[in-house]
Amino acid sequence: MNKIVNIDWSNLGFTYTRTDLRYVSIWNDGNWDDGKLVEDNTITISEGSTALHYGQQCFEGLKAYRTKDGRIQLFRPDQNSKRLNNSCRRLLMPEVPEEKFIEACLQVVKANEAFVPPYGTGATLYLRPYVIGIGDNLGVKPAPQYLFGVFCSPVGAYFKGGLAPVNFTVSDYDRAAPSGTGAAKVGGNYAGSLLPHEQATKRGFADAIYLDPATHVKIEEVGAANFFGITKDDKFITPKSDSILPSITKYSLMHVAKEYLGLEVIEGDVFIDKLDIFKEAGACGTAAVISPIGGIEYKGKLHVFHSETEVGPITRKLYDTLCGIQFGDVEAPEGWIVEAK
Ligand code: PLP
Ligand code: COI
Repeated sequence: MNKIVNIDWSNLGFTYTRTDLRYVSIWNDGNWDDGKLVEDNTITISEGSTALHYGQQCFEGLKAYRTKDGRIQLFRPDQNSKRLNNSCRRLLMPEVPEEKFIEACLQVVKANEAFVPPYGTGATLYLRPYVIGIGDNLGVKPAPQYLFGVFCSPVGAYFKGGLAPVNFTVSDYDRAAPSGTGAAKVGGNYAGSLLPHEQATKRGFADAIYLDPATHVKIEEVGAANFFGITKDDKFITPKSDSILPSITKYSLMHVAKEYLGLEVIEGDVFIDKLDIFKEAGACGTAAVISPIGGIEYKGKLHVFHSETEVGPITRKLYDTLCGIQFGDVEAPEGWIVEAK
């Protein structure tokens, strides 16, 4: 395909750009249809759709990367498929077979090849798969029909500055309940985060940090990203909890930290009043990639890690290795890369 689009790739933020085609498939009477690519970027659904009233919907986020030699590749789409299906099970929605999920992602990437940013610009093509309950309905019950869609948008950095440290503040709000839907990627978790996010950004912070909802003493999430810290004796520590979203980036970084950087890796408690064990800290996620955490405000005091302006050396190595794998410059562990041919 030789289409050229006029986009300032290096200055993209995390915003919506309409691309040419998106994938839509409908579930009815126990089966998904074959699905198709469509031009229309709007969807018409019943006013009674459970997605609109009862939050019966979930989504995913993954990226397509342009390699130095011009190929396009997806990073661990099987993991997004598994997590989407966990979210579907939690909300009584039909699962999307892994093969269908990956095929839909590949179709969308190939159909919008002109929107895959060039190598070296830092930008990527973000894919947004989602499942929503649709069809006429009134009572609180699962929908009679479902829609599985995938659209895409070229994106740049999620937090301002990319690999530049940003500060976060601890919110008094909870993101999720102890046995609620925190581990599922469902819209309700994000609706509840809009107010704490706004409160944080109005005060000059990049986002809100959420503590564990049962005791409020441990870090759980950094906005729409997971937390990791590097201790003064070079251990990679990241929270373990049933109410955080299991981040694919986080699990990938745990592997990179251990196998590529030789660090000890621990999933465990990160106490908000014991931040001085860390010399570096970061937020990680598909959208966020790695955002170095300059400092965390808690109870009126800012705890600064490595620096508010400089990236720590281990955070930089983690970032370079992860991005190297994603953009095809560093050899990936088996099964992590799916090429869009
Ligand atoms: N935590 C939340 C709440 C998120 O929305 C995301 C984004 O998907 C993450 C963490 C990071 O997860 P992943 O690395 O799989 O994108
Ligand atoms: C992601 O990192 O993919 C996210 O989902 C974060 C946010 C845009 C919801």
